[in-house]
Amino acid sequence: MRRMRRDEFSRRLMREHTLTTDDLIYPVFVHERDGREAVPSMPGVDRLSIEELLRVAEQASELRVPALTLFGVPDVDKKTADGTVAWAEDGIVQRAVRALKQRFPELGVITDVALDPYTTHGQDGLLDEDGYILNDATVEVLTRQALSHAQAGADVVAPSDMMDGRIGAIRVALEDAGLPNTRILAYSAKYASAFYGPFRSAVGSAAALGKGNKFTYQMDPANSDEALRETGLDIDEGADMVMVKPGLPYLDILRRVKDAFGMPTFVYQVSGEYAMLKAAAANGWLDERATALEALLAFKRAGADGILTYFALDAARWLREG
Ligand code: PBG
Repeated sequence: MRRMRRDEFSRRLMREHTLTTDDLIYPVFVHERDGREAVPSMPGVDRLSIEELLRVAEQASELRVPALTLFGVPDVDKKTADGTVAWAEDGIVQRAVRALKQRFPELGVITDVALDPYTTHGQDGLLDEDGYILNDATVEVLTRQALSHAQAGADVVAPSDMMDGRIGAIRVALEDAGLPNTRILAYSAKYASAFYGPFRSAVGSAAALGKGNKFTYQMDPANSDEALRETGLDIDEGADMVMVKPGLPYLDILRRVKDAFGMPTFVYQVSGEYAMLKAAAANGWLDERATALEALLAFKRAGADGILTYFALDAARWLREG
């Protein structure tokens, strides 16, 4: 076996998978304040004003990163129990989408569809008197949110909430609104993961959520077959792309989903995965560039067509440098 590993030329010739900039989607946090605000648990990631977002979009375009995915960070006083600001025409995400599509029409714009940044309780949906997350009532408001993103010009809406039936409802609503070309990226196999911690600080849902959890709608990390049932339903309901999330601890799920359905399949290297690598690198314990690129390549090997990663701009630079 070592003959083929002996020289760079034969290593290159037998290489089965490659990571390219075409595989990258950059998640960004957009707030209603001016300028940038650092997210302490995610070094190198800032909450951005729309003006700063346009600067980042310019870098992404210049680096040929295909798409951004937007997460709204509303002011705390705008949060309500039912998260109505999530579908406001002049909401933070809706304004950001319009600004992006006007300045950078070629750059793909994906929006997150879920209520958690907008609710006082930090859950992704509406609650009944006992605090249980209602399914169908939530689907109705998520559909409004998705529609408002699409009407603002989003190319792709990405429901990350894990309610049953939301993909079908959103697909019908888009068709009825005369928006048949808006794509749906379904967070299909999304686990109730502790690796989302830094993200919840970034969007400000951590404090609202408190000791709450999302076990009644996100998947149990113990399950694997269930991921295939979830993904199958989303495809039947009209998803264009499916996603597995988190990434590195769920490579087995990624491989199964890709093999079972052959769909455009995405993976989210989530905030906790990013924070781990950043923290180890900051301590001099790991080589940031080498470990980040290795993790991203591993997603390709496991079947991903694309990766949502906070390393997207850095990775695009590293790949350009070669
Ligand atoms: C919420 C949402 C979460 C993430 C993306 N959308 C967190 C959650 O479900 O609590 C996590 C992303 C990350 O950790 O980077 N709808």
